[in-house]
Amino acid sequence: MKVTHHGTSRHYRTVWFDAPRNRVRLIEQRLLPHQFKIVSTADYRETACAITDMVVRGAGAIGATAAYGLAQGVRAFRGRGLKALEKHTARVHRTLAEARPTAVDPLNAMRSMLAQMNGPTVAERQAQALALAEQFADDDAAHCQALGQVGESLIHDGARVLTHCNAGWLAFVDHGSATAPLYAAQANGKSFHVFCGETRPRSQGAVLTAWELAQQGIPHDIIADNAAGHLMQRGEIDLVITGSDRTLGRTGEVANKIGTYTKAVLAKRHGIPFYVAIPLSTIDWELESGAAIPIEERAEEEVLSAWGVTPSGRRQSVLVANPGSGARNPAFDVTPPELITGIITPLGCFKPRQLWKHRVKLGQTVAV
Ligand code: MRU
Repeated sequence: MKVTHHGTSRHYRTVWFDAPRNRVRLIEQRLLPHQFKIVSTADYRETACAITDMVVRGAGAIGATAAYGLAQGVRAFRGRGLKALEKHTARVHRTLAEARPTAVDPLNAMRSMLAQMNGPTVAERQAQALALAEQFADDDAAHCQALGQVGESLIHDGARVLTHCNAGWLAFVDHGSATAPLYAAQANGKSFHVFCGETRPRSQGAVLTAWELAQQGIPHDIIADNAAGHLMQRGEIDLVITGSDRTLGRTGEVANKIGTYTKAVLAKRHGIPFYVAIPLSTIDWELESGAAIPIEERAEEEVLSAWGVTPSGRRQSVLVANPGSGARNPAFDVTPPELITGIITPLGCFKPRQLWKHRVKLGQTVAV
């Protein structure tokens, strides 16, 4: 999307590849909204660290980063023979797959690449790896743009939309999932208002979604996570749209940022439609129960502290909790299908339990 930085506007993707230098290039998301900076990773291990440390985050963005990281690792191979390349590739794949556990996009991206990297020589497989990673990134952007057109009709003129975390373009390669219908509605001249749930502990809503919407000139307010129920009760929210890190094709359960489940329960209680927007790479066709989704538990410091900038512009973390108290920090939760009005995909909006029925159309490739 367009970013205005130091007075000049330019289109950026969240992640891209510098082929001559074999580097993955990323927007350093931990510095936003206070600083806009591009960083590079020198090898696949650094790329995996960038995912773990959340330099880059969001399901589609880490999917594309893992895809580029796999290509980066394969292209760096200097050994001889396909057997040695395959052993090396398995190591690269494992490192990237373990970088963050909940989102399925990195696994889907790399699995699809490995299935198609079948050239007869090392050089051909190295070329294929990069072409396939570029294809994943392009597909991610195209899927998000297409689902924006599908979801646009849900945004009526004057709508008040609640979203959670950041499922914007920063969480994908471009356009975003939850935000894509908003950008499409804006392009069609509709006016509406967005409430960005703050999303403690890392505040992706307050920090990233609010920055994105401000960049695109969309009216919005940040609300404390605990304010959502009150606004719903007072009739100030018309619909909710969130993203997902893993949506189970068999059951329609949706893993997303911690607090999504709470908002879905509240929306049900108040009769407010609750939508989840996803590109097709976010569907997990294998797991049979949401209870089996690996939920990332992050460091307790994220709950006990908060990042901000001082009046002089220095980025700083401060302790906000009682010194010595411990914390639990599950990063995601699972929302059951009965709380979800519809799953917005590039191929249409589906009832969550109907994903399985449409699995051929939605492109599942796993044998069942
Ligand atoms: O921990 P994060 O920031 O990587 O979490 C991902 C998210 O931003 C959200 O859960 C989002 O809705 C799904 S990713 C598009």
